[in-house]
This record gives sequence, structure tokens and C-alpha cells, in this order.
Amino acid sequence: MKLNEKQLQDFKRKFSDILNEKDIITDQDTIAPHLSDWVGNISGSSILMLTPRNKEQVSKILMLCNDKNIAVVPQGGNTGSVASGIPNGEIILSLKKMNKIISIMPDDYSITVESGCILSQVQDAAMEASRFFPLSIGSEGSCTIGGNISTNAGGISVLKYGNMRDLVLGLEVVLQDGKIMNSLKRLRKDNSGYATKHMFMGAEGTLGIITAASLRLFPKIENKVTAFASLRDLDATIQLLETLKSFSGELLSSYELIPKIGLDIAITHGDDLKSPISDVKEWNVIIEYSDTKNNDNANESLQNTLAYAIEKELVCDAAIASSLSQTQNIWKIRKAIVEHQPKLGGEIKHDVSVPVSCVPEFIRSTTQKLVEYLPGVRPVPYGHIGDGNIHFNVCPPRSYNSDVFKQSTEEIREIVYGNAHTFGGSFAAEHGVGLIKKKQMLKYKDEVELQLMKDLKSFLDPKNILNPGKIF
Ligand code: LAC
Ligand code: ZN
Repeated sequence: MKLNEKQLQDFKRKFSDILNEKDIITDQDTIAPHLSDWVGNISGSSILMLTPRNKEQVSKILMLCNDKNIAVVPQGGNTGSVASGIPNGEIILSLKKMNKIISIMPDDYSITVESGCILSQVQDAAMEASRFFPLSIGSEGSCTIGGNISTNAGGISVLKYGNMRDLVLGLEVVLQDGKIMNSLKRLRKDNSGYATKHMFMGAEGTLGIITAASLRLFPKIENKVTAFASLRDLDATIQLLETLKSFSGELLSSYELIPKIGLDIAITHGDDLKSPISDVKEWNVIIEYSDTKNNDNANESLQNTLAYAIEKELVCDAAIASSLSQTQNIWKIRKAIVEHQPKLGGEIKHDVSVPVSCVPEFIRSTTQKLVEYLPGVRPVPYGHIGDGNIHFNVCPPRSYNSDVFKQSTEEIREIVYGNAHTFGGSFAAEHGVGLIKKKQMLKYKDEVELQLMKDLKSFLDPKNILNPGKIF
């Protein structure tokens, strides 16, 4: 049930027994930024936002909501891409004021934090304790740990450290009826039955509200080396990845695909960015090595491997950044593609994955199908090729009307998702399902698995008060 005006007054009174007046927000100007996400393709509505400060308050809120059949939409930094945090008349439950670092245990390589902590706050706290928290995504200055866990965030370091799911040791979760599940253990091994914490990760807030987490830390990184390489062709991207892994796999922390069209977007529209090499080929990669030792090891290793790859004609040309500004220039190119791609007359975004070895063939065949459908169409497939996760965004032909292009959205989506499916891939690699991909969920998810998910949802949230309407 959503709130109407009369119920709002009634609930405001009830919530004021639980929360400070300041944490019961009805001012529409304050609520407005919480009604659409950064992609901005869906905007919702809500007349009430609650900002609890501790788990007991979250528990009491849910107890009341469950009792009265009132739904909530949990929200962290609201930096998602699939509208899973966007309300449709429900109460917004913002966890942002629950932002304490609870404890840090360097000897256990773990940190325990409230779920409203900003990702960069956790990275900084780890660094201060001479440790490293590896999750790294574009929105790290504003996304929250709770959101990272609820969406099982990925980013540019998955290759070495795994997805967010792999970085979580324990969770504290408030269930739909207000019960608090405390599983904030800092254990590396715990086989005492089902790994229930995993149900709440990637669940996009539909099964429980994550209020705190114990996370894995790693030895502090003392040296990073970044390179930009232009490759012989698309197949060489996977051959080079294999070479890097076998020569120095323990150092390789990022491997990102940059197509020439992406580099051109970054150079044309980005803020004073320069191409790292002069003769740029069609397919390029950013390579990053991370080392816990502060010596020349990573640099030498990368240099030697690239020299070998040039000799083997996998790489045509490469540049290793030799200063902080060169490193920043390379990573800013990566970011600028995301930001400026819509300037090519619009874009239709896809976040898909296929087995790593299939990426070249997947990109080629998807491109061919797209061009057959719309001659001149400009695909910009970029991103986490080391994980088989490509952001296969599609821009219109030159000088094409962007509104007409938008009308092709369904057909273009079908081509990209359908082809990913053919390769045994996923239509939702790292951004989740939310509202945007419900149709694909029905079409591509294994029927039995989908039913199991629905059963789990009915069991854990029988009244459907936790982020209703999301995922399926
Ligand atoms: C990235 C976001 C779009 O990889 O996931 O830049
Ligand atoms: Zn990504």
C-alpha cells in the first residue's frame, strides 16, 4: 500500500515516536533528488522520506510498516542505473545517516561499517590502517556500502578481488517484520549451514534492509602502474589478457576495453584529455598492475610483458604512464566515455556479460546484427573485458534524429540481450535488474530459478512491503 495524504498525517505521528522530527521528511524539494537516479530515465514519486540513525529505528519502522501494510524503498547514495531505488509512491527509507565505521581490525584484515557509509569513506579508513578495500567504481564518492552490497557492485577491480559479494564477511539485516539478523562475523570460514547472508546481496533491497556489514580488507597497495595499449584486433584482447595473467597474474588488477570510438568521444568532449599514444587502433585496453611492494617490480614486469606482446604482434603500440598526471589522463578517458557518450545523439545502454573467451565473437556478431538492423549505427562496447562484462552501449548513425533512434530501443535491446543469451551470457552483468530489466528477467532467466526467487521473496516478505515491483 502507498500513502495518501490522510494516512501521511497519521503515520507522521506514529513515526515521531520512533524518529527525531528532522528524520521524518515531507518537504518535496528535499525529497526530489531521491526520485530519479543518475541515468534519469525513470522518475518516481514519494511524499515521505525517513532517515533513521540506527538499526533499532530501522527495526521499529519495519515493524510498523509491516503491521500497517505500508511499503518502503530503501536507498543509499542513489547512484544505481536500473531504477531499483526509485519509489513509486512508497516511503523512501534512506540509510545515509547510518554512516559510522563501527570497528577496524587490521590483524583480521576486516572492517565493520554501517550500511550508509560512503564507499570512499571505507577506502580511506582502510588506508589509514595500512590496509586496502578494493571495490572501485565511478560513483565511489557518493555510493554507499549498503547499496554496493544490495546491487553486488562490480567496477574496475573485480578481476583481482571479485565483486562486492566476495568482499563481504558478515551482514546485519533487518527483516520485514523488524527482526534483526546479526551475522556480523569476521570469519573467513563458517560452514554452519546455509550462507543466508548471500540472499540479501544483489537482492536490491527486496528481501531485507542491510544495516551493517563486515568487509574483507587486503594488504595496502604501495605501487600502481597503468598502461594504455593498442591491439592488433579484437581477438588479441583475450590473448593479451591470457599473457598478462600467465606472466604476472598476481599483479594484474584491471583490464578495461576502450574502443577507438570511445577514445574519440573522450578526447573530443572530455576536459583536456590526450590520447596516450599517437597511432590508435580500433581496439585498445587499459591495464593496471597493483603491487604491495614499493619497488620497480610491477613496472618492469608490465614493460617486459608488453614488449613480448609487441614482438608476438598482439600489441601494436603501448604507453606506460610515467607520472601521476599521465595515469589520471588514462583513467579520465575511461570515465569520460561514460559521461559524454550521449553526445553522439543519444545512447541505448546495455550492461551484459558473456564468458571471457567469447567476448570478441560476441562483439563482432552483435555489431553485425545491429548494422543489419540499422545501417550506420555506432556501437560503443567498452568496459570490464577482463570479467567478460561489456557495457555495450549503442549510439545512432551520424546526424540521425535522436527521437527516432529512441523508438528503436526495444529492437536494439532485443538484439544485444538476445545475442548475449546465445553466448550463455547475462542481460544484467553488474548493474542489476531494478525496473529496467524486468522484461528480460521473464524472458531469459531460467524458469525454475525465477520461481525459486519468487518463492524466497514471498517467504521473506509475505506482505510485499520491501521495494515492491523491483526485479520481477
Ligand atoms: C562503468 C559503469 C557504467 O563501468 O558501470 O563505467
Ligand atoms: Zn561498469
